[in-house]
Order: sequence, then C-alpha cells, then structure tokens
Amino acid sequence: MLDVLTQKVHDEARQGEAFAPFINDPAQYQKKFYIESYGCQMNFSDSEIVASILQDAGFGATRDCAEADLILLNTCSIREKAEQTVRKRLTEFRKIKVANPGLLVGVLGCMAERIKSKLLEEEQLVDIVVGPDAYRSLPGLIEEAEGGQKAVNVLLSREETYADISPVRLNSNGVSGFVSIMRGCNNMCTFCVVPFTRGRERSRNAFSIVKECRDLFDRGYKEVTLLGQNVDSYYFTPEATDNNARRDTVTFASLLEMVAKISPLLRVRFSTSHPKDITDDVLYVIAKYKNICKYIHLPVQSGSTRILQMMNRTYTREWYMAKINRIREIIPGCGISSDIIAGFCTETEEDHQATLSLMEYSGYDLSYMFFYSERPGTLAQRRYKDDIPETVKKRRLQEIVNLQNRLSRESNEKDLGKTFEVLIEGNSKKSDQDWMGRTSQNKVIVFSKNGAYCNKGDYVNVKVTDCTKATLLGEIV
Ligand code: SAH
Ligand code: SF4
Ligand code: F3S
Repeated sequence: MLDVLTQKVHDEARQGEAFAPFINDPAQYQKKFYIESYGCQMNFSDSEIVASILQDAGFGATRDCAEADLILLNTCSIREKAEQTVRKRLTEFRKIKVANPGLLVGVLGCMAERIKSKLLEEEQLVDIVVGPDAYRSLPGLIEEAEGGQKAVNVLLSREETYADISPVRLNSNGVSGFVSIMRGCNNMCTFCVVPFTRGRERSRNAFSIVKECRDLFDRGYKEVTLLGQNVDSYYFTPEATDNNARRDTVTFASLLEMVAKISPLLRVRFSTSHPKDITDDVLYVIAKYKNICKYIHLPVQSGSTRILQMMNRTYTREWYMAKINRIREIIPGCGISSDIIAGFCTETEEDHQATLSLMEYSGYDLSYMFFYSERPGTLAQRRYKDDIPETVKKRRLQEIVNLQNRLSRESNEKDLGKTFEVLIEGNSKKSDQDWMGRTSQNKVIVFSKNGAYCNKGDYVNVKVTDCTKATLLGEIV
C-alpha cells in the first residue's frame, strides 16, 4: 500500500512481512534455532528477547530453516489474514519436518495465546505453544518437547516485563533499536484482540529502560524507539530497592525526558500513542528536546463519533481534532500518522465520509489502513454483527488509500526546497551510490553519496529537491 521503507521502522508487520534473523557465530552453539516474526514491532522486539533466552540455553540462531533444530514462528492475531499467513507458513514447514523428524516447531506470540493448546490439534506438526508472557519457560518446554511431549505455556502475567533480559538485536541496521517500555493493554477497543492476547497493561522499570537505551548508544546506535500499545499511559513508581536517588513516579513525559538526556546525539521515537492519553506534558517535552523526533503516530480508526463510540475509543471526532490542533500549536512542523479501519460494524456512507474528511483535516503524512476483520472473542464480535459486505469494505478502503496517497504527496511537496537534518540508516534500496535516511518527522529521504564523506549513523543536512508520494529525494548541503 505505502512505501515499504516508511513502514519498516515504524511497524514492519502491518505489511505481514516476516523476517528471519542473522545473529552471531552459530558454530559456537550445539543446536540451532530459526525464528520468523509477524505482527507489530512489539512482536519483533519480543523475538529479540526470545533469542536472548535461547542463546543462554545453548541455541544459536540460523537464517536457514533447513538446518535448524527448532523453528519458531512469533505470530500475530490482529486480523484474520495475519493468522492465515502463519498457517500457510506452517504447511511449508511440514516438508522440512518430513525430511528431519527430530525438528521441533514452536508457535509463539498472539496466535499462540489466542488459540492455546487447540493449536496442537489444529496444526499437527506444532510441538510447542508459548504465549507472550511465558518466554522464560521456553528452555524447559523445549526439553519436554525433545522428550516427545507436546509443551504449552500460555499463562499471562500481571508483572512480566522481561526488564532484566538483554535483547539480542536481530537483523538490526546498527543505527536504530527498539526498546519495549510496557506490555499489554487495558483499553478494550471493541474490534481489538490485543487485550486478550497480551493481557493487562504493565510498565517496565524506568531505570532498566534508560540503561538499555544507554547501552545501545554506547554500542553506536543513534536512535531508539520506545514501544508500547499505549505509551502515553506509561506509569512507573520506583521502589526503595531501585538503585537510584529518584523516587518520583515516572510518567511517559518524564521517561521521554530521561531517555532524551542520554545524549543529544541519540534520537528518540515512540509508538503508539492513544489520542485519549497523550498529554500536553508529553507534547511540551517533545518540543523542548531537539533529539526527540517531531513525529506522532496517533491512530484515529474512524472519523465518525458514532463509530468511535461503538469502537470504545472514548473520544469524539471533535476531541480528536482538538488534539491535532494542540500538536500543531505546541510542535510546529510535527509529522502525524494514523491507523484507519474501513467498514466497521454498521458503518454508513456518511460515517465513511466523516473518516475521509477527518483525514483531510488532520493532513496525515502517512496512514496504515485496513478493512475491518472480525476477531473471535472481541467485544465487537460478541456485541455487533459484522454487517458491511466485503465489497463495500474494500471499496471504502480503496477510497481511504487514494486520499492518503494524495495527502502523502502533498505533505512531501510542502518539503521541497527545505533542508532537514537526516540520520543515515544505510544504502538506499535501489542503489549503493545513494544513502537512505530519515528526517525527524519520520520521512524517508534518499540522496546521493557524491562529494561528501559520511557514513551510516551520521547526521547530515539534506536539502529536498524532488519527491514521490512515499519518498523525499535530496542532496547533501
Ligand atoms: N495500540 C495501537 C494499535 C494496535 S493494532 C493503538 O491503539 O492504536 C494496530 C492497528 O490495527 C490498529 O490501530 C487498528 O487500526 C488495526 N486493527 C486492530 N484490530 C483490527 C481489526 N479487528 N480489523 C482491522 N484492523 C484492526
Ligand atoms: Fe487494541 Fe485499542 Fe489497545 Fe490499541 S489501544 S492495542 S487498538 S485495545
Ligand atoms: Fe499482532 Fe499481537 Fe502485535 S496481535 S499487532 S502481534 S500485539
């Protein structure tokens, strides 16, 4: 739908993209695991925790599933299609298992949590099922499975944040890293399966977050993205045991500030903000620190107050507009993006038009757009009929996509002639003669390496000379 590069850092998997990691020298380990991740960036970040737990248990990672002793799929349940993709992938692994009967196959993540042990009946080749809060038990479960038992742990926790585990950075570009700051979600949007698959919201110890960010910076990283389903409700009260003089409660605004202070050379991003929870305090902190990126992902879902109410989003159209105004007032030039669902239960043409007009009002730089997919067990599935025909859902979605394409192009055209500070992430996809980087506003910019000595991870000033709807093109000044 949209530019793949733009999606990548924000949220790979909304595109249903999987990744197979590299890691360190697999030769030093007796056994090898292969892991593929689907879903949101938090799932990708969890795979890095899983990799760390497995390494400690003597497993090295491999990129080649054919040579693995253990294949893991870290799965997503957000839409039906996400689950179908995983099932299809499992079918493909069946062939490898026939060739190698000792191979173990494990399903992790949200689909494991949603379907639980029934997954073992439905997918005969699966040996291990582990939910998002039970990854510490993986080594034990693998042992059970090696002994011929099917092994399941889908217990959700009120405390688990994996705070003490140092993630093994999978497939990282060495410039930007993702840091999980909280888990779960208490919001109960009626369409959403996440509260059921990820459990109650809990915030990770602020000092362990800062430490992880500082470690990344010390290892040469230049950007951290703080991750949570609802980062603005981050809330942490230090205990007497925390080795720090500070005893004040840490809110998201103060956490942002703590991370921003690590170094002016470390960019700070975050995702996702719920419109009801993002406070002026957060906006003022973003405005105050140059290294906190001027970009907010603020999913609206729908532009109709009636639909928003049915979705239990707890804000109205007008309230959302006021929030957009507030962002534009406090952080001039801030990039704003959104998530939008087309064809939620009972949605009329009028509701749909309200979504289009709110998109126009907000002038999003980017949106992630979906048609409604009913999920078993959610409030919407229990309360409402999924009554919009698929053809209508798809037509409305197409109109939303078309409008966003125009808004993205207009937003990029406004940048022509301007100069931005860009963090270089690596070679451009198309040519190793060009760099690819991002502006603070999270726009991807491609520019020639010609005539300037710089490297991946450097900051450079780039003047925008041209653009497409997805990418800025420029030259170093
Ligand atoms: N916590 C984030 C989003 C998590 S899921 C937030 O509150 O914004 C990412 C996006 O997937 C959601 O914003 C929503 O737009 C979409 N989504 C969630 N459930 C869906 C469903 N049942 N059908 C279609 N899209 C859905
Ligand atoms: Fe789902 Fe809503 Fe929580 Fe986001 S805030 S994860 S959409 S329940
Ligand atoms: Fe998917 Fe679970 Fe994330 S359902 S979007 S992987 S929290």
